[in-house]
Amino acid sequence: MSELTQSKAWLALLKHYDEIKLVHMRELFDQSDNRFARYSLQLNDILYDYSKNRINDETVELLLQLANDVELPLWIEKMFSGEPINHTEHRAVLHTALRDQRDQPLIVDGIDILPEIREERKRVKQLAEKIRTRKWRGATNQAITDVVNIGIGGSHLGPLMVTEALRPHTLHDLNMHFVSNVDENHINDTLEYLNPETTFFIIASKTFTTQDTMVNAETARQWYINKLGSEECIERHFSAVTSNVTLAKDFGIAENNIFKIWDWVGGRYSLWSSIGLSIVIAIGAEQFDELLAGAYEVDQHFRHAPLEKNIPVLMALLGIWYNNFFEAQSMAVLPYDQHLHRFPAYLQQADMESNGKYVDRQGHEVDYTTGPVVFGEIGIAGQHAFFQLLHQGTKMVPADILAPVYDFRCIVKHHRALMSNVFAQTEALMRGKTEQEVYQELKAEGLDEIQIKQLMPYKVFLGNRPTSTLLFDTLDAKTLGSIIALYEHKIFVQGVIWNINSFDQWGVELGKQLAKNIAHELNDEKLVKSHDCSTNGLINHYKRQRSKKTCKK
Ligand code: F6P
Repeated sequence: MSELTQSKAWLALLKHYDEIKLVHMRELFDQSDNRFARYSLQLNDILYDYSKNRINDETVELLLQLANDVELPLWIEKMFSGEPINHTEHRAVLHTALRDQRDQPLIVDGIDILPEIREERKRVKQLAEKIRTRKWRGATNQAITDVVNIGIGGSHLGPLMVTEALRPHTLHDLNMHFVSNVDENHINDTLEYLNPETTFFIIASKTFTTQDTMVNAETARQWYINKLGSEECIERHFSAVTSNVTLAKDFGIAENNIFKIWDWVGGRYSLWSSIGLSIVIAIGAEQFDELLAGAYEVDQHFRHAPLEKNIPVLMALLGIWYNNFFEAQSMAVLPYDQHLHRFPAYLQQADMESNGKYVDRQGHEVDYTTGPVVFGEIGIAGQHAFFQLLHQGTKMVPADILAPVYDFRCIVKHHRALMSNVFAQTEALMRGKTEQEVYQELKAEGLDEIQIKQLMPYKVFLGNRPTSTLLFDTLDAKTLGSIIALYEHKIFVQGVIWNINSFDQWGVELGKQLAKNIAHELNDEKLVKSHDCSTNGLINHYKRQRSKKTCKK
């Protein structure tokens, strides 16, 4: 039995769960008029409403007790001060340093890391500004019209998500492209319409060894050379963001165009670093600073607000409540702002790569469940796709809803329709529809008693389905920075409570290792028998079919 599941707070939560599990949120709302005031918090432009959750004061108190029992405040300090809390890789976890606005040194391994961070950011901004103002010229003296970021995972999802989210702030005559899939369709579909003379590549890879990225980077380089007939001016068209400067240089990238990241920045937490080069090119230095400022404000809030008023802490505790006591397996993230359409994909990596772990900090298998399956989609699209399951399925899917008070163009007709859905969905999921309500509705529609009886079971909604809503004024860079940081810290808090290391990702290694070996086996037409019969069967079928067609190398 783990310390966690034996802790006083955990046992008390188990008992409390038994008492509250059948209580309907309708009752909770009926009992108190000020439930919204009690269970909502405001941080700058963001309102966090967590009142439509299956909680009462005792739930919150016990969850806070749990956070205190695992010494959460101490862990928060450990992270911010640069202790090597990523113990399996002996690394500090300092994405917060990348947005630190204070004038105080931050010492890691005897060195103040802030000057180097700021220096590197200056270089990023200088390059970005030259490209944005058309001062950066390609090999044939033309300005850049297209920027292609080649990367995957954290070197892709964060920059793509932010660039899409802040689309209104991007330049209209500078197109951003993001290539991640090693499937040739991705890079070739992208390059097909581009002009090498006006295209600039960013090879974004912390390690500079990720197979997918390196294969795509090589294809991009070859495309450039083939089209322009020379390797000479490659430095006018290629840059790299990496912690492996040597490999980037070996690839042929000029030192001036290599931007550093540090091993204390996790890939999925790296959009604030030079990995954000594509973001800075897209939105400009000022907007990028706003993004950092928004995140910094949340960092301050997370570090200093008492736990009971601390938004990421409450977000995390609610997740624990559903995950470990209600045994919810998943959580949905549902942005109602179209510009946040890549946010669910971004959050999937941030959350699932961080907390999808069954081994605790002491190396033991845990006896409780950890990270949920995170999924999501633009809320309106989800309503016409998977919301049926959220409303009437047999699984509880706690959902986060994100919506703006103003959208970018502030068009009343669209926004009213959008927001009416936001409010309606959270209400419907919470209240459901009782038999009595269905009866009255069908009666009013003119159905007879037999018809009503037949339809009744299908029309009833049990409700009691939890949602939390983040309602923000508008999706500007600062607010976006804050939203991302809220989720980063939420993930951290959950990792602390589950006693797992949220900052390594050993689980992605096995597949990579096997793929490397199999890639060798795919070099010839010899049939293989080194695997299980299914894998052998698949590989051999592939080889036979493939041999019927002549393909390019
Ligand atoms: O395979 C997982 C992973 O290591 C992620 O953690 C990371 O964001 C991604 O691959 C890309 O890694 P890199 O930036 O080193 O290419």
